[in-house]
Amino acid sequence: MVIHDIIIVGAGLAGMRAAIEGIKANLNVAIVSKVHPIRSHSVAAQGGINAALKKEDSWEDHAFDTIKGSDYLGDQDVIEILCKEAPQNILELERMGAVFSRDDNGAIAQRPFGALSFPRTCFAADRTGHTLLHVMYEQILKSGVWIYDEWVVVSFVVEEGICRGVICMNLFSGKLHRLHAKAVVLATGGYGRVYRHSTNALINTGDGMALALKAGARLMDMEFVQFHPTTLKNTGILVTEGARGEGGYLINSKGERFMSKYAPNALELASRDVVSRAEQTEINEGRGIDGSVLLDLRHLGEEKIAERLPQIRQLSIDFEGIDPVESPIPVKPGAHYSMGGIEVDLNCKTNIEGLYAAGECACFSVHGANRLGGNSLLDTIVFGRRAGIAVSEYVSSTELKPFPEDSALLEAGHRVAIILNRRKGEKVSVLRDELAGIMNEKAGVFRDETGLKEALNKVYEIKDRYKNVVIEDKSDMFNTELQSVFELGSIITLAETIVLGALNRRESRGAHFRLDYDKRNDEEWLKHSIFFIKDGEIKIDYKDVTITRFQPTERKY
Ligand code: FUM
Repeated sequence: MVIHDIIIVGAGLAGMRAAIEGIKANLNVAIVSKVHPIRSHSVAAQGGINAALKKEDSWEDHAFDTIKGSDYLGDQDVIEILCKEAPQNILELERMGAVFSRDDNGAIAQRPFGALSFPRTCFAADRTGHTLLHVMYEQILKSGVWIYDEWVVVSFVVEEGICRGVICMNLFSGKLHRLHAKAVVLATGGYGRVYRHSTNALINTGDGMALALKAGARLMDMEFVQFHPTTLKNTGILVTEGARGEGGYLINSKGERFMSKYAPNALELASRDVVSRAEQTEINEGRGIDGSVLLDLRHLGEEKIAERLPQIRQLSIDFEGIDPVESPIPVKPGAHYSMGGIEVDLNCKTNIEGLYAAGECACFSVHGANRLGGNSLLDTIVFGRRAGIAVSEYVSSTELKPFPEDSALLEAGHRVAIILNRRKGEKVSVLRDELAGIMNEKAGVFRDETGLKEALNKVYEIKDRYKNVVIEDKSDMFNTELQSVFELGSIITLAETIVLGALNRRESRGAHFRLDYDKRNDEEWLKHSIFFIKDGEIKIDYKDVTITRFQPTERKY
């Protein structure tokens, strides 16, 4: 059995940023990731990262925009931390070697982004996540962090309420391993792939959240799923909000710039939930074009598109057959971000001793009911760092607790054997597609009681059919079909939490919009949903929102 001080699960920006703090504290740190680090989903972030860098801007304004964007569900103490610590984190990234785009004075360029009262989104053209992930990986390479890449975590080992490590499968050999540690940090990203039409990488199946829930952690605010307004019609690939930040606009089949009806001041740069609902309304009411609306960038001109949005141009050409220099791009809302996640405190601690979480898999709640564009990369960096510091302090003052002899490994081995030995049953792809379809249709941009009940019944049906899932590949080496069984298990668990949370929450707030309860209801619902397992079932409880300086008011853009 291998022993480390800290095991970090997930090699995106949050995980790698946390690892760096462990190394600074002279600890033995390992990262486990189901993909090579630079294939982590942080690489797909495009438009930028927010920070109040200019003297005309302030962290307080950034905090207010974030709180308003969250539809007042965000916890204001943690939002203050995010916004206050943003500038120093950006400068640190630059010192690590991140090459941000520059303005005419040579300073870090900042563009307008959705629901921001000031252009405060720093960017590297439209490849900001790509730039930052590579820089962070360089830091990791020189740091001596041990990386188990293409290893899949199949369970967390928790004994007497303390996390002792993880059981993983090495995809190369198919062998199961015990990794023993004083503490584990989860940085496994979001669950966008619960939905059919999504900007998320195929790896984003929410494994960390589902495994944490099963191990006794609590999830929070799972019903809040962000739909990004501009995703390519046929593939769901992201078209950055930066395209609208640079001046792109949306039109319907009549050529109308329809956002003036829905957000007369902010127009296309209203918050994402508002723009996604506007688009879906246009499509539902027959003013769409083959299930989409159009994003027009032509007026920006080839030179600006080449400088600021080169990736968007190429992706549109490659995947939609459209050159945005010449024609508008067909776009529609797609599942993009999980506002919910593993409940953690300000230092990224879960309710299980020795288990921490950061990045999209965690919920502080810094994004409340709707995240602002550009605050996600920021969250990974600020809270990845904080998680790394907190876990290093914990590990430096605690003894290594024993790992349960062989029980956890045997249990995992038994599960794998059952799957490999099953001869008859249903395919993962069939179950996954049915579930993803109904989630898109009934638990998407618009929801209501009838649809959510249908979705819940489907979740229960798929959960039952999952017991007989069968795979054709019985081999040991790179058995990605076996991996997909684990991933489907995570998807089913998370779909259940999303739908249960959405069904219970009889109001509309941020990204959660109920056609049958179409107003925000602070009297009854200004509270976080908490999900936990009791007697083998997912239960829901509620807890208060932390309000420090901004009282909830009506949100208008
Ligand atoms: O539109 C985008 O570039 C996405 C950014 C984000 O989700 O923060």
